[in-house]
Amino acid sequence: MPEDKFGEDINSELFTQWVKVLDTQVKLFSPKEVAIFERFGLGNNIHCLLDIGCGVGAYTQTLRKRYPAMKAICTDINAQFLTEFKKRLENDPDPSIEIHQWNTLEEPSPVPLKSCNAAVLRLMLTFFNNPYDVLKVLKEQLSPGTLLFIVEEEDRLAFIEPGLQAFDKILEIWRAVRKELDIPSLGRHMPNLIKQAGLEVIHSELVAHSSYDVGPADLLEYYITTLRLTHHYIPNYASLKEIEEIEQSLRNHLAEFGKGCFFIYPQILTIARVPDAP
Ligand SMILES: C[S@@+](CC[C@H](N)C(=O)[O-])C[C@H]1O[C@@H](n2cnc3c(N)ncnc32)[C@H](O)[C@@H]1O
Repeated sequence: MPEDKFGEDINSELFTQWVKVLDTQVKLFSPKEVAIFERFGLGNNIHCLLDIGCGVGAYTQTLRKRYPAMKAICTDINAQFLTEFKKRLENDPDPSIEIHQWNTLEEPSPVPLKSCNAAVLRLMLTFFNNPYDVLKVLKEQLSPGTLLFIVEEEDRLAFIEPGLQAFDKILEIWRAVRKELDIPSLGRHMPNLIKQAGLEVIHSELVAHSSYDVGPADLLEYYITTLRLTHHYIPNYASLKEIEEIEQSLRNHLAEFGKGCFFIYPQILTIARVPDAP
């Protein structure tokens, strides 16, 4: 989705697809992510976590259940996502979660950022033309010592073996969306961007979520769901019929090769810190 589009309302079909992608991303990928982030300080010692670009809040809800002593302030530009998040909290109340609408780049923060000692930016920076600008805002507004836990995709390392044209086509379509942005395949750039923004890089790690650890059927469905979502934004890149053929081809491939089929979804996890005041 182009950078300036997140603030706009979307139709209910697109919204449903977004929610599906966001929930699946949390379900499939959060266990490995969280295990790594814990090694670098995520846990009950964080008294207040700021979730920037929280979406429908599934990640923070997962973290809150894991760390009961950690309070969370969740922010996002998109009012529809936040309404869905609030609905979820009506069904599963959590007084330690606060929700605020905030466009990270264009507005002063509605929340006291300095009260947080950690922030999470999960699959959010990728939608900015220049993620450096966001990091710079955070460097200026967060307290010294605040930890940042950042998740980004690294789609150029994705593969399927045995190879399949339909899989390559999905990656090509993803890249077509990102071509509009200054930095496609953002994950690998994170350490350098963080350093340039004046933050300290503590650690950066490549994580491959594979058909072996999240399960081939689930990972396949994830690729298909993101393809359908991406198609909304660049409908001319492949027709609906071609999208259906790609899906069928992926399903046939998995049926043919079964356990012999190995494919991954790669991410770069980066942990950074706001430096102490000079
Ligand atoms: C792929 S979603 C990730 C959601 C959530 N972090 C997660 O992991 O489930 C990207 C989120 O970034 C938000 N976003 C995009 N531009 C933003 C901006 N300028 N300010 C705040 N949030 C923004 C979108 O509304 C969306 O919820």
